[in-house]
Amino acid sequence: MINKETLFIKEISTDTDLLPAAEMLRRGGLVIIPTETVYGLGCSAYSGKAAYNVYEAKNRPHDNPLIVHVSDPREAEGFAYTTKLYYKLAEQFMPGPITVILNKKNNIPDEVTAGGDTVGVRCPLHPVARRLIKLAGVPVAAPSANLSGRPSPTCFSHCVEDMKGRVDVIVDGGECAVGLESTVVLLTGEDSLKILRPGAVGKDALSCVCGNVTIADGLRPGEAPLSPGMKYKHYAPKSPLILLDGERGNVISRVKEEMKGEDCLFICYDEDAEKFGDSALTIGSETDEESHAHRLFAALREADAISETRDISKIFTYMPSVNGNGISPAIYNRLIRAADHTVVKV
Ligand code: TXA
Ligand code: MG
Repeated sequence: MINKETLFIKEISTDTDLLPAAEMLRRGGLVIIPTETVYGLGCSAYSGKAAYNVYEAKNRPHDNPLIVHVSDPREAEGFAYTTKLYYKLAEQFMPGPITVILNKKNNIPDEVTAGGDTVGVRCPLHPVARRLIKLAGVPVAAPSANLSGRPSPTCFSHCVEDMKGRVDVIVDGGECAVGLESTVVLLTGEDSLKILRPGAVGKDALSCVCGNVTIADGLRPGEAPLSPGMKYKHYAPKSPLILLDGERGNVISRVKEEMKGEDCLFICYDEDAEKFGDSALTIGSETDEESHAHRLFAALREADAISETRDISKIFTYMPSVNGNGISPAIYNRLIRAADHTVVKV
């Protein structure tokens, strides 16, 4: 049973406010840090014991490696073998929502990489994250700061909900701008890479820097996962989530029909909310994909909170477009896993 005294750092005006968090990271403690994607549960990437404690705090399976965060892309030299393509990607996308898998050096303990020879490197855009890593003076290993199986936290209160009493410090950096986890890429050659997890840095953007961009087989339904994390069912809300695939009018009729007999929720565009009263959870205007990404995990958490007091039998949402570029493949990827691949044609 983990029962820690958790310090909250909410007002950050100067570096001094971050010093207790930096000190805690250096000493092997657990510190939740804000990033532009989702909040991360951080520890010193040089401490195997601290990394072990991160897995315990999250109830995370020990075979799923952690990403290592740096305040400057060049800091990767300290623990990984960088390549020309890494620096090309860094120049274009770092700091930002991308994680690059590199071969690791020996100073990264096995607990961080789950025994593997590679390590994910990420330089977050959120200024508080970079300040904190710099002040700590160590690279910071951090998975998303949710309890394993819950949606990733995109604001301070989500972190408190899952992790109060399980970590030493939670730093408040406001709402995460992107709201979905980083794009994870594996460098497969001098000018080729594979997307292991879609995120805000899309295939088109990567193709401008790298000649040959492929998408991992494991991302398609029913295929063996390449990224260790992909094999776990993720983000599943307490009531089953169903994706309705069809025209928007058909989706709305179907949800209305279902709601006649049972108490259901609808994760919907702002434009459709009025018709569904307190069963609507909005994610932004229809065409605003950035807002859908930004709001998705919060909506799934709100659905769980409502399920505590109402007997919610199903949660519905639209099947997102999968052919788009930008962030839409990432939205699809998170939703299809949250729905455990339940798609109904309407
Ligand atoms: O945006 C993000 O990436 C957030 C913030 C906190 O930085 N972090 C995050 O970490 O999402 P996590 O642990 O929840 O997801 C990391 C993903 C997992 O699917 C993991 O399996 C994969 O990256 N991964 C990490 N290291 C890897 C490696 N060496 N090889 C292949 N996949 C790796
Ligand atoms: Mg995660």
